[in-house]
Amino acid sequence: MRIAIVGLGTVGSGTFNVLKRNQSDIAARAGGPIQVVQVASRRLNPTCELGDVEFTTDIMAPCSNPDVDVVVELLGGTGIAADVVRSALSHGKHVITANKALIAEQGNELFPLAAANGVNLAFEASVAGGIPVIKAIREGLAANRILAVAGIINGTGNFILTEMREKGRAFADVLAEAQALGYAEADPTFDVEGIDAAHKLTILASVAFGVPLQFRAAYTEGISRIDPQDVRQAEAFGYRIKHLGITRRCENGIELRVHPTLIPEKQLIAKVDGVMNAVMIQADALGQTLYYGAGAGSEATASAVIADLVDIARAHRQNSSLGVPSLGYRADALNDLKVVPINEIECAYYLRILAKDHPGVLANVAQILSRHSINIESITQKETDEQNGLVPMILLTHRVREKDMDHVIDAIEALDDVVGSVIRIRVESFS
Ligand code: HSE
Repeated sequence: MRIAIVGLGTVGSGTFNVLKRNQSDIAARAGGPIQVVQVASRRLNPTCELGDVEFTTDIMAPCSNPDVDVVVELLGGTGIAADVVRSALSHGKHVITANKALIAEQGNELFPLAAANGVNLAFEASVAGGIPVIKAIREGLAANRILAVAGIINGTGNFILTEMREKGRAFADVLAEAQALGYAEADPTFDVEGIDAAHKLTILASVAFGVPLQFRAAYTEGISRIDPQDVRQAEAFGYRIKHLGITRRCENGIELRVHPTLIPEKQLIAKVDGVMNAVMIQADALGQTLYYGAGAGSEATASAVIADLVDIARAHRQNSSLGVPSLGYRADALNDLKVVPINEIECAYYLRILAKDHPGVLANVAQILSRHSINIESITQKETDEQNGLVPMILLTHRVREKDMDHVIDAIEALDDVVGSVIRIRVESFS
């Protein structure tokens, strides 16, 4: 099988190098060699020795190259990458991509285009880097009704939160290191504001529940406003703050949300640190499983790209299709579960309230919660800050509908003795 790699950055170079280094094992698994016949990139990458492989700066060239069976799109983004994928599919080439933004935002049009041209569009590397979680849900869990998926699916964000907690490092400093290591997106706000995680969660929801991709309906909240004192306070309560993507079946549809989340520290997913990713799946027959590994990085992501290549090579040699629908469910059997708005979800909350050190403030806050029938799980009042005379109060509540919590927060913020905004972080437990 003859392939072209389009994009020779972090993932493109890893794919080229792993294909070369492991060529005999890969050929033995695929049923024959996978030959890179063309590389298209704006610039060469010093980590790759291309040898006699044709190199071009014409990014579109492989799409119509008659010597190419598969185009591997590793440019990222929804600009030129979308043109490459559309053109390659239209020219009857199979496409493999690590591009979560493209699949999440345009997959509903791209999968039918692939089908109409009798080719495959494979995307294992788009979610959680090297962890084969798409394959796990689509094939390994095919017997199950999936109930919920929750994941740490952005390595950069997890690295930042881990370094803040373990070493007390500043946000910007850790982000710069993640960029230097090649983990961060070209625009790192995608990492820290949860957009990258929302792209990946959108894809996970589609393969888990058999729904079309609904990225625009995802609720997205980043970690840029997480304060080190909340990281420390969460720890004191026995929790860790993780940036989670959560999708779950609920009464009226599915939840689809990315936000910082307190998780009990004894749960496995709370222990996933650094740049590592993990995806927890609750399925009716199997129960809970956790898929852990490198969610970003050159060769780790290449591992998933090449797994897709091997699948396509096996099918290609038999002149058949992959036999696995792109989203797990057949295109004509997708269902129309809708994403419920964030104010309809229910969870527990961590609240940090800054108040003047006057008698009765705590009682007033407790009264507001009680008026809305919200139970308090625990409460801590810190020492008064001598400089400003303000005292932070931290509460953990029982589960409540987000809409009700919005009313509670409005009422607390309206109290005379409360200063500024109430900090709210959702709390989840997966047992
Ligand atoms: N920027 C992404 C991350 C890369 O940090 O997880 C892998 O998708």
